Amino acid sequence: MTTSSSSGKIILFGEHAVVYGRPAIAVPVSHLRASATITAAPPGSRCTLFAQDMGEEIHLADAPPDHPLALVLRLALDEANIRTEPDWHILLASQIPIASGLGSGAAISAALVRAVLTHAGQPAPPDTISRLVYRSEELFHGTPSGIDNTVIAHERPVWFVKGRPPQPFAVGAPFTIAIADSGIVSPTKETVGDVRRAWEADPAPYEATFSRIADVVHGARRAIHDGNCAAIGALMNLNQSRLAELGVSSPALERLIAAAKDAGAVGAKLSGGGRGGNVIALVDEDSAGAVQAALLATGAKRVLFTQISQTSSGEFSG
Ligand code: MEV
Repeated sequence: MTTSSSSGKIILFGEHAVVYGRPAIAVPVSHLRASATITAAPPGSRCTLFAQDMGEEIHLADAPPDHPLALVLRLALDEANIRTEPDWHILLASQIPIASGLGSGAAISAALVRAVLTHAGQPAPPDTISRLVYRSEELFHGTPSGIDNTVIAHERPVWFVKGRPPQPFAVGAPFTIAIADSGIVSPTKETVGDVRRAWEADPAPYEATFSRIADVVHGARRAIHDGNCAAIGALMNLNQSRLAELGVSSPALERLIAAAKDAGAVGAKLSGGGRGGNVIALVDEDSAGAVQAALLATGAKRVLFTQISQTSSGEFSG
């Protein structure tokens, strides 16, 4: 039996603009995980995926070529040089809410690839996992930037520009982010598709907003390097205004963001595709409890905390 797991993720700065070549900053959320467990099945039973949380049972031989999980499994088997369908039961389980901006699809795919390679006795380097997961992200998301598969495969904070190797970034002082689930399901494919259609219809203002978001992301890198919490928070607020200009915020998200700030958060924004999913808020020791209570009182389904520190942000290995 082999079990492998992968973390969820949040985008701190730069979502959507990253699809158009601007930089973004993302971090793993290591205590939210998806897992894949492979067990040997009786000879002749072939390969079946049990996707617990989606209530799906997928027989590999019958799955259409564009089924995202079947695709990623076929790619992983190919990468592991397994040419004949193996007799395996694969159980997929996830604590990461679906369609909420936390990278659930990429995390399940990454756990699956890692489990297949490990079960086959092969190395499972992050770059290989990232490359294969990107292929399933294309089916889930349409035109992904590649940031989700990268941060999840490496499980490290990343400075990311589409098409380039990820870079680590310096964290001058640890900081704490509250992650509040609005409970509103919002597939990334839809918000990314809407932004794309609007950009195609009238590119100039969208390009200008993407470039202003890039300025915010560069500023955030400096503020994080300097450990300047007030500046990080102000830049989160600025990023949120730009995301609202792109049309990916919503009244429910704005209410959660306002509640967090009123309760003492240093800054707050949506994270990921937007319209629903999660908002993130920068908190300190004094404000964390009040921010959590305010978010729950304003309708958040749950609030988690994650700390971003230098120890989680070292060199990358392949
Ligand atoms: C999704 O987590 C982030 C987006 O920027 C889409 C992408 O980068 O592929 C909205």
